[in-house]
Amino acid sequence: MAVPPDEALFLSMLLKLMNAKNTMEIGVYTGYSLLKTALAIPDDGKILAIDINREMYEVGLPVIEKARVAHKIDFREGPALTILEQQLTEEKYRGLFDFVFVDADKTNYLHYHKRVMELVRVGGVIAYDNSLYSGLVAAPPDEPLFCGDTGSRDVIVELNKVLAADPQIEVCQLSIADGLTLCRRLY
Ligand SMILES: C[S@@+](CC[C@H](N)C(=O)[O-])C[C@H]1O[C@@H](n2cnc3c(N)ncnc32)[C@H](O)[C@@H]1O
Repeated sequence: MAVPPDEALFLSMLLKLMNAKNTMEIGVYTGYSLLKTALAIPDDGKILAIDINREMYEVGLPVIEKARVAHKIDFREGPALTILEQQLTEEKYRGLFDFVFVDADKTNYLHYHKRVMELVRVGGVIAYDNSLYSGLVAAPPDEPLFCGDTGSRDVIVELNKVLAADPQIEVCQLSIADGLTLCRRLY
């Protein structure tokens, strides 16, 4: 599912305030947040867009083309973890990214964090979507969930703990949409 418009507008404003130029998006779906990013960065800006499924990206691609921002997008199809590992083997990608938006499989968020921290520049921002997980992060661990799966909820709870304790980042958790956590890399 795509992010809601208030979150997309917020991210778009943030990208402009940061003068972000090199960005990454993990989890594209039909490309709504991708389009908002492509419109927010300068004409020579770049987005490394990763999704396991190219088919859904192609559903939204005509809109991205109509908006004349397709040239900013480098779409890579495949599991994000594999693509991040590939990026890390090339020195030019380390510390390159001003902004990374993570909105794919929750169970890998902690694995993404470890890798993305090496790819985002000092002073850059990593944004994690769904960090409140419909508010269920506050539910007692043994309480049965009315929706979603316990596995993902537990991973998000763990992610929030790890991020809060990570001295390498400054964290800001926002209660917009399904929860959005911004992490600014300090060193
Ligand atoms: C919530 S949607 C992304 C929505 C998009 N950010 C937006 O707001 O328009 C999640 C996407 O993550 C992709 N995905 C799931 N597991 C993945 C993985 N292991 N690697 C890369 N992409 C994955 C799915 O195919 C899906 O398109």
